[in-house]
Amino acid sequence: MTEMAGIIPVADSVYWIGAGDRETDKFEGLWELPHGMAYNAYIIKDEKTALIDTVKSSYMDDFLLRLNRVLEDRPLDYVITNHMEPDHSGAMELLRRLYPGVKFVGNAKTIEMMKNFYGIEDGTVEVREGESLDLGSHKLVFATAPMVHWPESMASYDPTNKILFSNDIFGGFGSIEGGIFDDEANLEWAIYEMMRYYVNIVGRFSKQALKALEKVRKLDIATICPSHGPIWRSNPGHVIDLYEKWSRQETDEGVVVVYGSMYGNTKTASDAIARSICASGVNPVTVYDISRSNMSFITTAIWRYRGLILSSCTYNMELYPPMAALLRLLENKNMTGRKIGLCGTYSWASAALKEMSGFVDRSKGGWTLLEPKIEIKSRPGPGNIEQCELLGKNMAEAVRG
Ligand code: FEO
Repeated sequence: MTEMAGIIPVADSVYWIGAGDRETDKFEGLWELPHGMAYNAYIIKDEKTALIDTVKSSYMDDFLLRLNRVLEDRPLDYVITNHMEPDHSGAMELLRRLYPGVKFVGNAKTIEMMKNFYGIEDGTVEVREGESLDLGSHKLVFATAPMVHWPESMASYDPTNKILFSNDIFGGFGSIEGGIFDDEANLEWAIYEMMRYYVNIVGRFSKQALKALEKVRKLDIATICPSHGPIWRSNPGHVIDLYEKWSRQETDEGVVVVYGSMYGNTKTASDAIARSICASGVNPVTVYDISRSNMSFITTAIWRYRGLILSSCTYNMELYPPMAALLRLLENKNMTGRKIGLCGTYSWASAALKEMSGFVDRSKGGWTLLEPKIEIKSRPGPGNIEQCELLGKNMAEAVRG
């Protein structure tokens, strides 16, 4: 079968039939999508037919038409369910009605979720680590990836074409912009969006991701077909190396300055710190106003760089709410091995510095606190700015090299 609208050959008897989404503003209701989102699904058309993952339910109509067109008059024999989150399992219930003989393939945890999500209790095939499913000239070998990022997460490997169907692993934000494959895509943003996806969706489970990568390294892989983002066929090894770097929380030289400011006084202090870091020879320094940037961009920058300055006002006798939300998110991600500097401001009830210090203390050494800890009352004076400059110099020294 040659390429036709929305049906793109990936390898011998393997086709992409996914969906591009430019309507959803925030993935999971949280993470902004400046380039949209893709839900990749694949079909292997051998002696048996196997669909590998489905799409989000709102993209089901067109997807089912294309599936039907690929199958021609043949039945759908299997749906390989690598992950049950509804962006991949959204069409399962309808597939059962359209193809009554179809078998849903997954591990024990997947099968439990099929029942909970869609009431599917029969016509399931349970597979375990290392087991395979014969489709004819292709077979699929299954590798579990527990907690990357759900308990039932799994990948499927096709030794015939050396394709890894990795689901969320190696996936990224971003819709289809004509190019399905990495050599056709805009890699400048595709790699960034892959990292932003990793940090925000998978990052908390980095230890588990490293275990999954050990399995991946043992496979002979020519092509990685994830369920989001481009298909990686040019240099899959590079993508695996990047994923390992992020999973190990290896950082680059650079500092992220995040501030929360109501009237500009905390911003003034933050700008003084950022200038001092830069003037001390560290580049890049990236400054975020926490009230104006989606948290996913901030967490991605923090994941990447070695140094972080948190600078926040006090609000209603507590830490400024967006900054409190960021701290909670960072704790959730178990980030470690980075340097941090703090600047808190208040006018009549000191709280910001104390709460941010508590965050550092709770990390039990995960974050290394640099001096001076700065607290400013009402508005930064010359003495405060000197402290900001000193903190900037100390941060530059700590992250260099
Ligand atoms: Fe792409 Fe975890 O769903």
